[in-house]
Amino acid sequence: MFNKLTAMPADPILGLLTKYREDDHSQKVDLGVGVYKDESGHTPILSCVKKAEKFRLETESTKVYIGPTGSADFNRLMSELAFGAVHPAIIANRIRTVSTPGGTGALRVAADFIKRCNPNAVIWVSDPTWANHTGLFEAAGITVKTYPYYDYETKSLKFDEMKAALANVSSDDVVLLHACCHNPSGMDLSVPQWDEIITLTADKGFTPLIDMAYQGFGDGVDEDAYGVRKMAAAVNDMILCSSCSKNFGLYRERIGACTIIAKDATRADIAFSVLLYVIRCIYSMPPAHGAAIVETILGSDELKQEWLDELTVMRERINGNRTMLVNKLKEKGVQRNFDFIAQQKGMFSFLGITAAQVAELQEHYSVYMVDSSRISIAGIGTGNVDYLAESIAKVIS
Ligand code: LMR
Repeated sequence: MFNKLTAMPADPILGLLTKYREDDHSQKVDLGVGVYKDESGHTPILSCVKKAEKFRLETESTKVYIGPTGSADFNRLMSELAFGAVHPAIIANRIRTVSTPGGTGALRVAADFIKRCNPNAVIWVSDPTWANHTGLFEAAGITVKTYPYYDYETKSLKFDEMKAALANVSSDDVVLLHACCHNPSGMDLSVPQWDEIITLTADKGFTPLIDMAYQGFGDGVDEDAYGVRKMAAAVNDMILCSSCSKNFGLYRERIGACTIIAKDATRADIAFSVLLYVIRCIYSMPPAHGAAIVETILGSDELKQEWLDELTVMRERINGNRTMLVNKLKEKGVQRNFDFIAQQKGMFSFLGITAAQVAELQEHYSVYMVDSSRISIAGIGTGNVDYLAESIAKVIS
């Protein structure tokens, strides 16, 4: 049977990990996978996570099945983190949240759920979007189409074209929006632009699916949830997929959440029963360890404050790296304007160089980034920025 298979190409993002690890260049630079790194290039375990793990180790008394929804406390706290504790949709009991194996697990649960809502639904994703969105939704049998989003020439949003495309989306379809820190462009909707998209969504009646993988990495935990909160108050039905990989640094624990917001509590209960059925058919129940860590942190005033402080350090380091790279490129005599990198948000930006130049950077300078020239800003540091800027300068000159 297996003789009918043809090999799949390496994943465009994860494939870089292996290549980078095998490279023995002393000055190699990893701007590939979106993981936070500190100044020394290490991805640390947050101090609040260490404390929460210690507490769980001492107090956990059973490993019995947790059930398809995961931990009720985690689900409630995640919902409050996303929407704020006094959001009208929480008060109206319109929200149901489940724990999932990472943000990717949340998206896959959402995909199978959408398929059950409407087997012919099309999901509209931004052009460009996270490389895994397309494969993930197609794997659930959903047709994926794109709406215009990032203008590679002007390094800004194609906002008018985006609105024009969304105005033609059927009310039976789903539109995927990035809550903040757009992956891969770093180009977010402004508050007035969110307002326009939310009005349009409510008018047209399609279902928004918001992917929030970087809450707290843009402007702050509450600021980054602006679109999520306002959208949930404005539309009947909505889906939110959240991840704790980046903001809690829990990458390998695989913990995220899938939330459905329905028109009213009755509809939410029905939708929730379908969500549970979908989960049971994919992985039965989510892993518990990551959720236990997050609920310990969010459930303690002290640990939550420590987490917010550590998150601020990560966000500010990334923002500082953006400015540092732009200034360093100028210092190295690069004439091309890279100021846009300092204005964009979150983990990523496109450098805006050709695939051939990306390949040259990898082959000759051991600088790793995705073929699209997406760079993970957290991989920059004072120790490698000179070498990085010099390498870029040579390749684009
Ligand atoms: C990324 O975009 O680099 C991250 O979200 C990691 C991944 O799974 O692709």
